[in-house]
Amino acid sequence: MAAKIWAFLNFKGGVGKTTDTVNLAAILAKHPDFRGNRVLVIDQDPQCNATLWFLTRERYHVATSRNKSAYHLYEAQMRGSQVPIQDVITPVYRDPESGGGIDLVGASFDMLEQEEDPSLGGEAAKAATVIQRAIEPVRNAYDYILIDCPPGYSIFTRNALRAAQHVIVPYTADYLALEGIKWIKQLRDRFARGHADPNSVARIGGVIVNRYRAGFRASDAALAELRVVLDELGAQTGEKIHLFRPFIREATAVTAANNEQRALVDCEPTAVRRDFIRVAHDLVQTFRRHV
Ligand SMILES: Nc1ncnc2c1ncn2[C@@H]1O[C@H](COP(=O)(O)OP(=O)(O)OP(=O)(O)O)[C@@H](O)[C@H]1O
Ligand SMILES: [Mg+2]
Repeated sequence: MAAKIWAFLNFKGGVGKTTDTVNLAAILAKHPDFRGNRVLVIDQDPQCNATLWFLTRERYHVATSRNKSAYHLYEAQMRGSQVPIQDVITPVYRDPESGGGIDLVGASFDMLEQEEDPSLGGEAAKAATVIQRAIEPVRNAYDYILIDCPPGYSIFTRNALRAAQHVIVPYTADYLALEGIKWIKQLRDRFARGHADPNSVARIGGVIVNRYRAGFRASDAALAELRVVLDELGAQTGEKIHLFRPFIREATAVTAANNEQRALVDCEPTAVRRDFIRVAHDLVQTFRRHV
């Protein structure tokens, strides 16, 4: 079966896009509940956070180099050609028993310059199909493809929107983040209207609440408002925007694991580790029937 493709996207910075991408990828590939999944992570953020997270220091220079990262895919398009995705995939985890694993298409800091390159604004680039075309031949080789997006709305974000089936919005409970969700919906719809087939642009699949503090009045008020906004946005299109459960709590275990570049699934059991595993179940269940 072809991979489910999710873009972790929010224009706002620091809401947990990378933390969710890498931890959910690791759970889907490693946790006994999901064992055996083949997961591809694509880092579309020139900050390279997901890339640095997955790679050891030694492999980092190789993997973030221009010709072993998504940079190479974009650069080929600017030359009017295409490179096979296999050329830029770095395997990061394999379980020989289950057959599961994680592969990475890393980002490169050079993508910062590429973002400014006028030739990426050309006609071919407007279609934003670099990632979509790159993953097409390997869609059956993976169960899940997770794309970590940069904050903001760049050419890399638009490529993620074309490549993915669903946008997963990592969210922290505050007012600004709420405005961000409305913007994501608006820009997504505007981008989709520019294409002959609006279905070729990812739909907003749902929201993952990160850094949740139970009983904290400000976040409870923001979450109540979030539910209203999601219902309104869902009603506009007739498609439900899922609020994934449970909310992922704020926990020092997350920061500690991130600092050590470890996935929570590889750490000792904690409540927040359980939150992530349950969210992974909800994600899988929610999009189970989607092809
Ligand atoms: N549940 C959590 N509990 C505590 N800290 C968290 C939690 N989730 C994420 N963080 C921390 O929040 C910070 C931002 O997370 P992350 O880098 O994943 O956000 P991001 O949206 O990818 O940011 P950017 O927009 O810069 O790409 C990190 O320091 C991370 O360790
Ligand atoms: Mg990030």
